Amino acid sequence: MIITHGLRREFRRSRRAEPVVAVAGIDLHVRPGEMFGLLGPNGAGKSTTMRMLTTLLPPTAGSATVAGHDLLCERAAVRRRIGYVAQGGGTEPAETARAELVMQGRVFGMSKAEALARADQLLDRLGLAAAADRRLGTWSGGMRRRLDIALGLVHRPALLLLDEPTTGLDPASRAEVWAEIRAVREAGTTVLLTTHYLEEADELCDRVAIIDRGTVVGLGTPDELKSQVAGDSIVVTLPPGTPELVAPTVRAQQWCRGADPVDDRVLRVYVADGSRAVSDLLRLLDSLSAPVVSLTLTRPSLDDVFLTATGHPLAAA
Ligand SMILES: Nc1ncnc2c1ncn2[C@@H]1O[C@H](COP(=O)(O)OP(=O)(O)OP(=O)(O)O)[C@@H](O)[C@H]1O
Ligand SMILES: [Mg+2]
Repeated sequence: MIITHGLRREFRRSRRAEPVVAVAGIDLHVRPGEMFGLLGPNGAGKSTTMRMLTTLLPPTAGSATVAGHDLLCERAAVRRRIGYVAQGGGTEPAETARAELVMQGRVFGMSKAEALARADQLLDRLGLAAAADRRLGTWSGGMRRRLDIALGLVHRPALLLLDEPTTGLDPASRAEVWAEIRAVREAGTTVLLTTHYLEEADELCDRVAIIDRGTVVGLGTPDELKSQVAGDSIVVTLPPGTPELVAPTVRAQQWCRGADPVDDRVLRVYVADGSRAVSDLLRLLDSLSAPVVSLTLTRPSLDDVFLTATGHPLAAA
């Protein structure tokens, strides 16, 4: 659905100044039907990438095929096959949802009757029919963002691009928007979204490209990305004095990458695959007559992935 080769964009602030490299030549491959996320901090180049893929911004270098058409030579064909929801959205507070949807349909060449029918269909699907004729200024942020998504879907695109779909929403509204995005994907539309929320990339996306300073620093499913870093850790609480005694035997196991007593009662064990190692560890501790009081398994987060790849945490970047 999207293939890019060395896609790059520079911005020149003045003739003499060095150009700012917003996107430094990225290669992406998004498969049909996939929910693909671009995860990165402010200024990483996410919106610039999106705007290039929508034909709104010409690349400085590189090439791409989007929804089956060449990004540089077939711009009109690309535009017909994609929907785009910009960062922040663009609906008019004084308009109604129905009016906005009908206008969007007309922009894409539908007759008035067709546009009205499509508006009704989308309002129904989103559960927004009751509010359809109320001014948008009275709507909640979550409702407005769902309408933004509906506006991107009016012409039934094969690919929907969502730039930061939930930024600034409260948790309840975010959950509503997530449900809507999942429904879009289930209906067969490929989705490319950008986010700086780790949780959003983790929960929603089949695959994620982690972007920092205009380059892709990690690519894969959230699980693949997480398993590339540190591995899992298992924290067990044991009777007082036991961690020191059992640590050497635990360390000697072939599934164990390390075992450190945290204090008199707590042992932290590092393993490649926590869900498999848990039963081995329990069996071993049992055979050593070290009864387990409690056990927690922690997996690395996408934040750990970002930190490992870039040397700085996403939140502070
Ligand atoms: N029109 C422009 N002129 C000059 N520099 C720009 C322009 N647009 C973007 N940039 C610069 O390019 C870099 C990437 O910006 P971009 O908006 O793509 O980041 P982003 O990942 O979308 O960030 P955010 O999370 O804040 O939306 C930034 O350093 C930004 O200042
Ligand atoms: Mg942006």
